[in-house]
This record gives sequence, structure tokens and C-alpha cells, in this order.
Amino acid sequence: MEFSELIKTRYSVRAYKPDPVGDGVLNQVLEAARLAPTAANRQPFQLIVIPTAGREADLRRIYNRDWFVQAPLVICACGIPAQGWVRGDGQNYADVDVAIAMDHLILAAASLGLGTCWIAAFDPTAAREVLGLPDGVEPVAFTPLGYPADRPGLKKRKALSELVRYEHW
Ligand SMILES: Cc1cc2nc3c(=O)[nH]c(=O)nc-3n(C[C@H](O)[C@H](O)[C@H](O)COP(=O)(O)O)c2cc1C
Repeated sequence: MEFSELIKTRYSVRAYKPDPVGDGVLNQVLEAARLAPTAANRQPFQLIVIPTAGREADLRRIYNRDWFVQAPLVICACGIPAQGWVRGDGQNYADVDVAIAMDHLILAAASLGLGTCWIAAFDPTAAREVLGLPDGVEPVAFTPLGYPADRPGLKKRKALSELVRYEHW
């Protein structure tokens, strides 16, 4: 799919078919995340692929929506700040790196006809418990991964003139 078409096609999918995601397709999506750029090429992230079947109750503790457990897979993108690049003023870029990797994954999924939805409004304590995250590993975002059972709405976005300045603030 052509890039401008792809970024228009992707939307937050909040209803999923139960159809499985094949291993080959899953690998393409994960590979897109692997190729993402990261600050100083530190790659301070881990992706956890969670089959939903039989784990619905655990997953609902993390984010209690029917559609979250409808997809066959859920992916958790974690950051490892101790592995991230740190700017001179102390700013750690691990979260930015995780977001870029996740966006690669999400766009690759859309290009393959799969649906995703960024989820930040999850319960981090439940995520740590359910996924057994060790200290130093931070859950940053989740997404279901599966075939969409809904349709996109209209994209509501600010006008470019509200988002872009030239030369100075
Ligand atoms: C960082 C981030 C966190 C988000 N968290 C949630 C969330 O917790 N729950 C949810 O339903 N949607 C979440 N979204 C989806 C946004 O609401 C959605 O991207 C936005 O409304 C634009 O719609 P679109 O993705 O369909 O283009 C999140 C999106 C981003 C980028």
C-alpha cells in the first residue's frame, strides 16, 4: 500500500473478528518494529505477544474493554529506560523509542489489513503483575492485533495551520 494511503487507512479499531493472525503475518508486523530507529540505536524495548484465548480475565484487569480481549493477540510494548539514550540534561528517550517501534508495528499491521488500537489508559500495576514485568521494565502501550470487525469513522484532525509554525514560535 502506498504510504499516504496507509496513514489514511490506519484507524483505532475497537471491534475485532476472532480470526487468527498467522505466524508469517505476525512476524512481518514484529519485524517492522525491529527496524524502527531508536536514539543512538540502543533499541531499549521489548514486545510481549499475548494470545488472548483463555487469558481474558487477566487482560481485563489490565484494560477492561470487550474489544481488548476480542482480538486473538494483544501486544504490550515495554521500555527499558536503563538501556535508553540519555541527553546531557538527563532526558531519557526510551519512551520515544518505544513509541516509534510501536508506530512501525501499527502501520505494518494496517498495511496487512490488520487492526490495532494504541492503548495508554491501562492499569500499569495490573500489567506488571499479569505479565510478570521485572523492575526496570516499563509497560508503555498496548494494542490488540487482529482483523477489524468495525469500520473507520471520519478522521478529525486540527488543520495544519494550527499545528505548524515557520521560522519561530
Ligand atoms: C499514545 C496513545 C494512547 C492512546 N490510548 C488510548 C486508549 O487508552 N484507549 C483508546 O480507546 N484509544 C486510545 N488511543 C487512540 C486515540 O484515541 C486515537 O488514536 C485518536 O482518537 C485518533 O483516532 P484514530 O486512531 O482512529 O485515527 C490512544 C492513542 C495514542 C496515540
